[in-house]
Amino acid sequence: MTPGGPVDRYRQAPVNPDDLTLHEASFDELSPATLYEILRLRVDVFVVEQDCMFGDLDGRDREPSCRHLWLEHDADVLGYARILTEPDGSIQIGRVVTRGEARDRHLGVRLMREALARVAGSVVLKAQARLAGWYGQFGFVAEGDEFTWDGIAHVRVTHPVALTSPAQANPSGAGQSHPQPSPAREP
Ligand SMILES: CC(C)(COP(=O)(O)OP(=O)(O)OC[C@H]1O[C@@H](n2cnc3c(N)ncnc32)[C@H](O)[C@@H]1OP(=O)(O)O)[C@@H](O)C(=O)NCCC(=O)NCCS
Repeated sequence: MTPGGPVDRYRQAPVNPDDLTLHEASFDELSPATLYEILRLRVDVFVVEQDCMFGDLDGRDREPSCRHLWLEHDADVLGYARILTEPDGSIQIGRVVTRGEARDRHLGVRLMREALARVAGSVVLKAQARLAGWYGQFGFVAEGDEFTWDGIAHVRVTHPVALTSPAQANPSGAGQSHPQPSPAREP
C-alpha cells in the first residue's frame, strides 16, 4: 500500500493495466486493510472529487449477497464495483469507480465486464446521466427520465439480456487487451 495514498504514485508513473489483479469477496471476506482501501477510493471519488455530500455507507455492503469486486495493484485499490441483489431478484451493479490517476486505461471496462459475467437475469444501474453512453457500450439501455440523486443527474439503465460469460458481457471487444481470470480472494 502507498502510505499517503496512491495519488502521487500513479500520477508519476501510470499503472500498467496488466499489473492489476481482480479480486472478488463478500463483506465478511474483506480484510480490514482492503475494506479501508475500497472505502478510501469510494470517498475520494464520490464525495471529494465529485464534491458531493453523499452518504456512501448505506449498509448494503454488508448484505450477504453483496459481492465486492476490485482491481488491486500493490495493495492499492484502483477500481471497484459492487453487485447487489434487489428484493425482486434483479441485480444492481453500483459504486462503479476507478481512481482518477488510472482512468482511460480500460479498468472500468474490465470491472463492468467482470461484474456482468457474474450475474444472470435483469441488471439495473442508476447511472450518472453523463455516463449513459459509457454504460451503453455494455448493452445497457436508458429507461425513463433523468432524476437528481444526491445533487447529480442520474438515469436508470437496464440490461435486457442475462449474461453468463465474459465474452457475452463484452460483445464489442472493449478492454480485450487485458483479459484475466479472477483469482480467488486471499483469505
Ligand atoms: C466511469 C468510470 C468508472 C470509467 O472508468 P475508466 O477506467 O476511466 O473507463 P475505461 O478506460 O474503462 O473506459 C474507456 C472506454 O470507454 C469508452 N467510452 C468512454 N466514454 C464513452 C461514452 N460516452 N460512450 C461510449 N463509450 C465510451 C471509451 O471509448 C473507451 O473505450 P476504447 O478505448 O476502447 O475506445 C470512471 O470515469 C469513474 O470512476 N468516474 C467517477 C465515478 C463515477 O462517476 N462512477 C459512475 C457512477 S454511475
